[in-house]
Amino acid sequence: MKTLDDLLGEGVAGRRVLVRADLNVPFDKKDATVISDDGRIRAVLPTLIALRDAGARVIVCSHLGRPKGAPDPKYTLAPVATRLGELLGNPVVFASDTIGESASASVDALQDGQVLLLENLRFNEGETSKDDAVRGAFADKLAALAEYYVDDAFGAVHRKHASVYDVPARLPHYAGGLVLREVDVLKRVTESPEQPYVVVLGGSKVSDKLAVIQALLPKVDKLLVGGGMCFTFLKAQGHEVGKSLLEAEMIDTCASLLSQADGRIVLPVDVVAASAFAADADHDVVDASEIPADRLGLDIGPKSVALFSEAISSAKTVFWNGPMGVFELAPFAAGTRGVAEAITKIDGFSVVGGGDSAAAVRTLGIDESGFGHISTGGGASLEYLEGKTLPGLSALES
Ligand code: 3PG
Ligand code: MG
Repeated sequence: MKTLDDLLGEGVAGRRVLVRADLNVPFDKKDATVISDDGRIRAVLPTLIALRDAGARVIVCSHLGRPKGAPDPKYTLAPVATRLGELLGNPVVFASDTIGESASASVDALQDGQVLLLENLRFNEGETSKDDAVRGAFADKLAALAEYYVDDAFGAVHRKHASVYDVPARLPHYAGGLVLREVDVLKRVTESPEQPYVVVLGGSKVSDKLAVIQALLPKVDKLLVGGGMCFTFLKAQGHEVGKSLLEAEMIDTCASLLSQADGRIVLPVDVVAASAFAADADHDVVDASEIPADRLGLDIGPKSVALFSEAISSAKTVFWNGPMGVFELAPFAAGTRGVAEAITKIDGFSVVGGGDSAAAVRTLGIDESGFGHISTGGGASLEYLEGKTLPGLSALES
């Protein structure tokens, strides 16, 4: 795999370099123009700065959210261009399309050492199309904007999308520093995790995490399960879960995982049960076996935090993906905070895998330096741990 350093060594002054970044950042729930966590923008800065300082004409592209293949103002990257400019200390040129007139005029006008951000890639159906020809046609136009391609969008390497998979087949391609660092860390926890190895999983759906649970179960000492997905496991243990999130079709699967795991899957023993999904809802801590029929669990309780923290404290390796509760609402943030703080205290190597968990760490104001590595990729890091081939990485390797 060629790297950004190789490209810099070849000399890029005056050259047009297309950088695929993952600038898919969360926005404030109350003010949709405010970026609530700019971690993904910061993570790609070293690559952009290195190219800029080497005199390249830097064309950055990214997706944001999941628009349906056509322009949708709700998903514009314009606020990201502004933030990126602030962080770079120089305004970033913003093109109001990806392969249209605005993009080509902006590319033509680009000066050495200037940075341009294209509008959301997913405003084009060719970006995510399952049809190779449709994706290829879009990739042809995207590739035509530049002479070199750098992929630093670790969070998107698991997507077989035009900008991730097809463009590198059309341009000399290089892996950015963020992609290299992320892969190094994931290799370390996949190939030779120091034992005891504890994995903490949260988030809403068991079905999203099934493959990674199956892949990790043989390797881990403990798998701690919180978040919305814990209720399907609790149900599989025979508990009633009231109005909590439940994937009924996954109950049997959870029961079989629990029996295979032979005690290594650890579930919450108490939960914060609320009358509604709202910050001002009535809520109480109840035993996990006594969730009232008219309540829903929105966080793990304090006894669970203590139980999970105890398991985490002796670990030499921890991988954590997915919040323990609805951390965005203050009454349901303690579980995620408690587990995150326990992870920062281990005498070992910890990885926070994921967009959401990384955002939770920063939103809750937890000291980032307490973690070994905070990944920018949720789905990407999980698929890496599952042992899958990631299209973006194989494209860089070939
Ligand atoms: C993410 O947020 O996980 C990445 O940006 C990928 O986004 P996607 O899941 O919409 O492809
Ligand atoms: Mg995702």
